[in-house]
Amino acid sequence: MIRSIGIVGSGLAGLSTAKTLRQFGFDVTIFEKEADIGGVWSASRRYPGLTTQNPRDTYAFSDFPMPRSYPEWPTGAQVQAYLETYVDHFAFRDAIRLNCEVVAAIPRGEEGWTIVTRSTRDGNEDRHDVDYLIVCNGIFSIPSIPAFPGRDDFIGAGGHILHTSEFTDPEIARGRNLLVIGYGKSSCDVAMASVGLAASTTVIARHLIWKIPKRLAKILNFKHLFLNRLGEGLFRYIQIRGFEKFLHGPGKPVRDMMMGSVQAVISRQLQLRRIGLEPDSKLETIARSTVSLVTDGFYENIASGAIGFQKGEIATLRPGEATLSTGATVPAEVIICGTGWHQRCDFLDAATLAKVTDMRGNFRLYRSMLPVGVPRLAFNGYNSSFFSQLNAEVSALWLADLLRGGLTPPPVETQNAYVDSRLAWMEARTDGKHSKGTNIIPFSVHHMDEILAEMDLKLPLSTRLKHWFVAIDAADYAGLLPRLMRRHGVTSRPQHRASQGQAA
Ligand SMILES: Cc1cc2nc3c(=O)[nH]c(=O)nc-3n(C[C@H](O)[C@H](O)[C@H](O)COP(=O)(O)OP(=O)(O)OC[C@H]3O[C@@H](n4cnc5c(N)ncnc54)[C@H](O)[C@@H]3O)c2cc1C
Ligand SMILES: NC(=O)c1ccc[n+]([C@@H]2O[C@H](COP(=O)([O-])OP(=O)(O)OC[C@H]3O[C@@H](n4cnc5c(N)ncnc54)[C@H](OP(=O)(O)O)[C@@H]3O)[C@@H](O)[C@H]2O)c1
Repeated sequence: MIRSIGIVGSGLAGLSTAKTLRQFGFDVTIFEKEADIGGVWSASRRYPGLTTQNPRDTYAFSDFPMPRSYPEWPTGAQVQAYLETYVDHFAFRDAIRLNCEVVAAIPRGEEGWTIVTRSTRDGNEDRHDVDYLIVCNGIFSIPSIPAFPGRDDFIGAGGHILHTSEFTDPEIARGRNLLVIGYGKSSCDVAMASVGLAASTTVIARHLIWKIPKRLAKILNFKHLFLNRLGEGLFRYIQIRGFEKFLHGPGKPVRDMMMGSVQAVISRQLQLRRIGLEPDSKLETIARSTVSLVTDGFYENIASGAIGFQKGEIATLRPGEATLSTGATVPAEVIICGTGWHQRCDFLDAATLAKVTDMRGNFRLYRSMLPVGVPRLAFNGYNSSFFSQLNAEVSALWLADLLRGGLTPPPVETQNAYVDSRLAWMEARTDGKHSKGTNIIPFSVHHMDEILAEMDLKLPLSTRLKHWFVAIDAADYAGLLPRLMRRHGVTSRPQHRASQGQAA
């Protein structure tokens, strides 16, 4: 009998999992190592200027809209405040243990897990027995910083090396020569945040990639083009059905023309050729483990010279300067690495990890949630997405259905075949950049469709048709939870939208 559930992490995956499972009658506890909730959006991790990439209504939970007073792209602090209000609205603050790091999870077979936690305040350790463990520790949560040759001398002479998620106080950049490593969204945002503060800012990037402006041709919100079924359908999924067969078959010339025109608009709008930053590849290569939007003002500042740009990587560091792989030398006192993240679960024991991941560290999760053949363990948030909150929410419904006995996963051989084929497909289409097998971007809606189909819980046909042409509003998914609750005979009514707009 499964009753108590331990959840690692209070990002939006942990929060939506806890809220949903509590609504289904489970006794949930979230363990969070930081002093506040929100993960990516926590004050402990957000750099100055961070906003969502998703427009507001595409990043809210289905049954709890963001306040109308929020801008189209809410700030990190606003998202964190929204999540605080979500916790209060659904009344599960008592389930959250802050400053509580999970340092070990000891399997007890079919009995569940013993979770060992350490207080980040006083170091005290505690043990908690739970019937089921759900890992929501975030796939973009553990910073990855390259081991630069010469690092120790550089730091010894007063230099600083930090990750973008550690750039929470911009003062470290003031009056100093700043290098920002990487060309993902984090790097471009941090470079922008340092303009006018640092003595100099130089971005160092190994590869050029395409980025989407928030508004194409400065007018059309990108959500109307990419955050719907048609936008997803432009990229070739592992299996194609219906209209997608046309788009990637007889209609391919039309689809290629659409992609080509969007690429031309982006290149012109950002003047990429003039500033020498047009990628060699086509726009469709944009969808790897991440998709990056343009940071407001970034290219204008490159064009004006306020932000320098060097192609290559750091070869060696010396006090006050870096030599690049191109042989160029640049002044450097602070190095901020937007060099991505590790996907790891250091608190799991080696025997469990050997089943959860393959030899290359790729996560082997059925439906991005269930490790094959490991009892009483699941993951949520292991699905890099453009609708991370909706994917987490729909995944939480799947987990509730599973734990209430409504859903039987297929046999182990089928789960393994699913994982094998997905990993091979991701590897091929992302050139290895699939965040250890956690990539579903840009196929967030396909992923949710499959999860819902397995639960026999589809969105109405009219909504699915609408989603071909208009940006997906998270609220369109709000009916699913009450339907699943009714099916399981759960009587407590989920709360509704009365307290929208509370997060200030
Ligand atoms: C800067 C940034 C901006 C993003 N913007 C968007 C966006 O606009 N749209 C979008 O769809 N996606 C975006 N993403 C992707 C993002 O990862 C998700 O949207 C989402 O916020 C992730 O939620 P999560 O709960 O899975 O992980 P996280 O938010 O990373 O939360 C994981 C939590 O687990 C905690 N934790 C980890 N290990 C332990 C442990 N051992 N013990 C206790 N607690 C632990 C962490 O402290 C953290 O609070 C963004 C990612 C980043 C890095
Ligand atoms: N809401 C927002 O505004 C926002 C802000 C930040 C991030 N995000 C999201 O968060 C996720 C992660 O984004 P991110 O920008 O943090 O990371 P990312 O997209 O993984 O980008 C990492 C960058 O670091 C480079 N890199 C990696 N290892 C390197 C090394 N050893 N040396 C030099 N360069 C290295 C990569 O270059 P290569 O291409 O050469 O590998 C890449 O340019 C994405 O989904 C992103 O969309 C969203």
